[in-house]
Amino acid sequence: MKRLLLTLTLLFALTASGFAKDYALHTPNTMMVLSAEEGKPLYFRYYGSKAKVDDIRAVGRMVKYEAYPAFGTYCDKPYAALVKQHDGDNAAKLVVEKVEMRPGGGFSFLLRDVAHPTLAVKVNYFSYEDCDVIKMNAEYINEGKKPVVLQKYMSAVLPIQSDNCVLLHIDGSTKNEYNEVVEPLTSGVRTISSQSGSRTAIHHNASFMLGLDGRLDETDCPVIAGTLSWMGNFHFEFYNTLQARIPTLFMGGINPAASDYTLAAKSSLTTPEMIFTYSANGKGEASRTLHRWARRHHLLDGTKEREVLLNSWEGVHFDISETSMVDMTRDFAALGGEMFVVDDGWFGEKYPRNNAKTSLGDWNHAPDKLPRGVQPLIDMAHSNGMKFGIWIEPEMVNVKSELYEKHPDWVLRHPDFDPSYGRGGGQLLLDLTNPKVQDHVFGVVDNLLTKYPEIYYIKWDNNMTMNNASSLYLPKELQSNLTVDFTLALENILKRIRAKYPHVVIQLCASGGARLNYGYMPYFQEMWTSDQTDAYHRVLIQWGALNFYPSNMLAAHVGSPFSKYTQRHIPIKYRFDVASMCRLGMEMVPSTMNDSERAYAKRAIAEYKKIRPIVQQGDLYRLVSPYEGLRDFTSLMYVSEQKDKAVLFVYRHIVKHDMSNIIIRLQGLDPNATYAIREVAPEVENKPVRLNGKTVSGHVLMQEGVVIPELVKTYSQNRSHGEMRLSNDYRSVVLELTKIN
Ligand code: GLA
Repeated sequence: MKRLLLTLTLLFALTASGFAKDYALHTPNTMMVLSAEEGKPLYFRYYGSKAKVDDIRAVGRMVKYEAYPAFGTYCDKPYAALVKQHDGDNAAKLVVEKVEMRPGGGFSFLLRDVAHPTLAVKVNYFSYEDCDVIKMNAEYINEGKKPVVLQKYMSAVLPIQSDNCVLLHIDGSTKNEYNEVVEPLTSGVRTISSQSGSRTAIHHNASFMLGLDGRLDETDCPVIAGTLSWMGNFHFEFYNTLQARIPTLFMGGINPAASDYTLAAKSSLTTPEMIFTYSANGKGEASRTLHRWARRHHLLDGTKEREVLLNSWEGVHFDISETSMVDMTRDFAALGGEMFVVDDGWFGEKYPRNNAKTSLGDWNHAPDKLPRGVQPLIDMAHSNGMKFGIWIEPEMVNVKSELYEKHPDWVLRHPDFDPSYGRGGGQLLLDLTNPKVQDHVFGVVDNLLTKYPEIYYIKWDNNMTMNNASSLYLPKELQSNLTVDFTLALENILKRIRAKYPHVVIQLCASGGARLNYGYMPYFQEMWTSDQTDAYHRVLIQWGALNFYPSNMLAAHVGSPFSKYTQRHIPIKYRFDVASMCRLGMEMVPSTMNDSERAYAKRAIAEYKKIRPIVQQGDLYRLVSPYEGLRDFTSLMYVSEQKDKAVLFVYRHIVKHDMSNIIIRLQGLDPNATYAIREVAPEVENKPVRLNGKTVSGHVLMQEGVVIPELVKTYSQNRSHGEMRLSNDYRSVVLELTKIN
């Protein structure tokens, strides 16, 4: 009952038609208002800070805009729905038929088309009591006896009363993911979308922030952030109409490009959820809300600690052998590692996987490489007190494989022309719309976990875009359902896997981070952020991803000192400090480290375990951005929910002569508390920075900040850290703060 009162506020008296006129959704600090009346369109009225509705109205902040417009009435304006009826008519007028309260918080508005009453659209709004998140989606219901074709079927429409928005989004490419891009939203339509089908975050991410007052500050401007929970093609539209009442309009959902969706008679399609947060206090709070909500409500095992692991890929690539794996396992255990993961190259009975050209689909161990199978590797991990994980790419096949020899018709391709091949020149994406293929993909995981029940972790990769968006399984008239049905089929497979194996840890990977999306979170505990392990590059990548995605799901591994991608040398401390910003792991052959690096790695892993609860579960505060201003420094921190612990990361990238120091003002602490400062894993043991051991009030740390002179000094090479780094570039300091009173 209490929940009912909290979430539902009926602001006006009940109307004669039996339901109230205005509906407010409440979260702890925000509010959204809609108005509904039977037989009329549903109207959006307000989204922003929680307040008395009368006050919002008094200050002119209540607007009136159709909450879910269909093509048909105001055809000059943006529309969320475009539905082609069986007779060819594509105009609709959606009016309210019914309003229902949602059990967990929020409302569902059932809209019906006046012209074709067998078409209904249920527009859902969900609110949360513990996080400032409101979600939206729409359910298309065809009650008619004939199919209809959905030509545009957005999840959410959000009118925004600001003519001066600044847009932030994260774009990139493989090994250069999630560059933070900030731009003014100028007149016209800005779209961000993906058509890559199976790994839709490869260039653009289905997430955005809008600063509403012409700026996008960390702490003090109004911000709306949004992200779409969908594994398929997405489409965002930002209209800047320059109209007086609603200058800006956002729409987001499934990308309708080449995706006309035939909705069979008596069936429905539920569009993915668009997740929004509103922050009156800058984008820092918007990120923290999304992170908290994801960990609590969306990400699988979101509040469970993640292990420190070593992955074999960058160390040995396809060169897997029992000896090399056993050596890496043993050496990593000696460093304090908690899990060993065998990456690509372990499988292929008839065609051993020695490169990217063969074997995908044949998920049995390669006898030449692992004559005794996978079990000895699992046993070795266990005897060293570690868990074990393994790599698969289950949605794929290589033309040179036993699977393709048996089932050449299981792939996505057009029957009448040659397909375009993916990685290695012979890779194809399996056609998940085919139920037999769904059984196969489920079976890849099921067979592996049945044969080796002690596998704790799976890395699920995807290295091919949907280049060939044609199905050999779907009939011709349903070809344009492919992108949606493929995504729904993938979701069904994942549901089957999770029904049987609810907590096996599964990492999602797609040539690095090409699948970073909220849609995967209920099925995967973590994602491989990027194949780029150059630690400096990683600062930019991780910073970009952290705008929307929580640290505990972003895998960050320490690679070799010399990056083959950027040809840059980076010392071990900086590499560890960058990876420790998220879920720490390693991606190199431990035996290639020299003695001082090995000793450092051991200390750094032990220290990470101590700060892990704060890094993986704490609130993120961004202090100095690598994308703005003083690019030579980057700093961020995590603060525990009780504000009794915090971890500060400071990175200094490139050395300059006579470099000026910078003041780093901390955030998120208790101003009235005193904190003890401890340096985490100093570069030289027992030689911590000057701040180590100091006790300082939260107020001073936040108002006056800290300076770290050690980061601007240039040292000569004869200092004792000479073995650990070649130059004065790439230095970092991590401080742990503990509240003492
Ligand atoms: C992709 C992944 C890598 C690695 C290789 C294996 O590129 O992103 O991390 O797993 O595949 O082939």
